[in-house]
Amino acid sequence: FHAASHHSTLASTTTSTEATPRGVDTLRAGAPQGPVRDYTLHARSERVTLDSGQTVDALTFGSLPGPALRATEGDTVRVTLVNDGVPDGVTLHWHGYDVPNAMDGVPGVTQDAVMPGQSFTYEFPAVQTGTYWYHTHQNAAANEPLGLYGSLVVDPADGRDPSVADLTVPVHTVGGATLFGGHAGVWTETVAAGRQVRVRLINTDQLTQRFSVAGAPFRLAAVDGGELPGGAELAQTVLPLAAGGRYDVVLTMPEHPVQVAVEGSRGGALVLAPDGTPAPASVPRFVQGPEIDLAGYGAPAAQPAPAPDRTAAYTVDRLLRFVDGMPRFAFTVDGAVYPNIPPLVVREGERVQVIVVNRSSEVHPMHPHGHHVRVLSIDGRAVAADLRMDSLDIRPGQIWTVLLTADNPGIWMDHCHNLQHAREGMVFHLAYD
Ligand code: C2O
Ligand code: CU
Repeated sequence: FHAASHHSTLASTTTSTEATPRGVDTLRAGAPQGPVRDYTLHARSERVTLDSGQTVDALTFGSLPGPALRATEGDTVRVTLVNDGVPDGVTLHWHGYDVPNAMDGVPGVTQDAVMPGQSFTYEFPAVQTGTYWYHTHQNAAANEPLGLYGSLVVDPADGRDPSVADLTVPVHTVGGATLFGGHAGVWTETVAAGRQVRVRLINTDQLTQRFSVAGAPFRLAAVDGGELPGGAELAQTVLPLAAGGRYDVVLTMPEHPVQVAVEGSRGGALVLAPDGTPAPASVPRFVQGPEIDLAGYGAPAAQPAPAPDRTAAYTVDRLLRFVDGMPRFAFTVDGAVYPNIPPLVVREGERVQVIVVNRSSEVHPMHPHGHHVRVLSIDGRAVAADLRMDSLDIRPGQIWTVLLTADNPGIWMDHCHNLQHAREGMVFHLAYD
């Protein structure tokens, strides 16, 4: 095994002079008719002063987090990435967005990394609505945590309901501070009592973030961008969100502040306040409670999951392996580390039931690129709702069963979104026959 020297996909720096797209011809037909949403992101290395006064040496897409990208279903999203000085090079991966393979932003697989002075234009149809995000995929374990990330939200074709307050909240730890959006301290947002609020939480960190929503009953309205109708109202329920995952929380604003916080965060929180006055610091931001039962949440799906054509399985673990000739504990898939893990090979149109077993004592947020899987069971408990995810919070000892529909041809990564685990080998390919 020689994982460390072969991580072109997540960890290495490519040295070619041009950032060349590969397989642009795989862009799917049926391009949308809506307008083009044109954005330019400048990646750079800079010292950022947080609103707490703390300074951090960051890598940014011009701001921390990067610009909030927004489009409407049916639009074309076009984003030009310019590298203004990220020495490792940079790419944009559209996390959770099932883009054509050539737009997936994986250096060494779908394109070369965009080196300083270079640029690359991404273009894809806005076909999925909901909450997503983007981040660099070049030396991602080191560079994404430094700030190369931002949100992508796509509104439904009939537009966003203007009566609903809509807040996009990437939550990220940098320099020991937890940022809610761009705020290292408390982000206070005025929302009139009686108004509906949608809070789009995005976990851009490496570990599961445990959120609490204190002050009002709420519903979990969407998971990983997909609406989850019929979920009961919750109160004092902790929402554990996988690394890379998204939860949309919906509530009706009461006459007093509501606090959205993450466990263990030093100071960071989103406070919704009817009169703009935050809750006093004496009110605890994070409130402990039972965790949401994701397997049992939401109304039963109108259509039961279709029968799979076949079953595949893989096991994630941490095992003693020889890496560069030295024995060490490595994050493994079926006992191997990247690039020695066999790909999951699928045929277009096929439905594969995939059983994921976590035999280790760590959480592994497995993330398939280019696809959403329908979750069939979580640790033996059947999921009745139409729960579609791209970032699976696979806890120690758990077994998840998911249905993968092979509907997006290409060569894709499937990896742990604890990016340190990915760098250390917990990466394999999903390949079309
Ligand atoms: Cu958000 Cu390959 O990752
Ligand atoms: Cu992992």
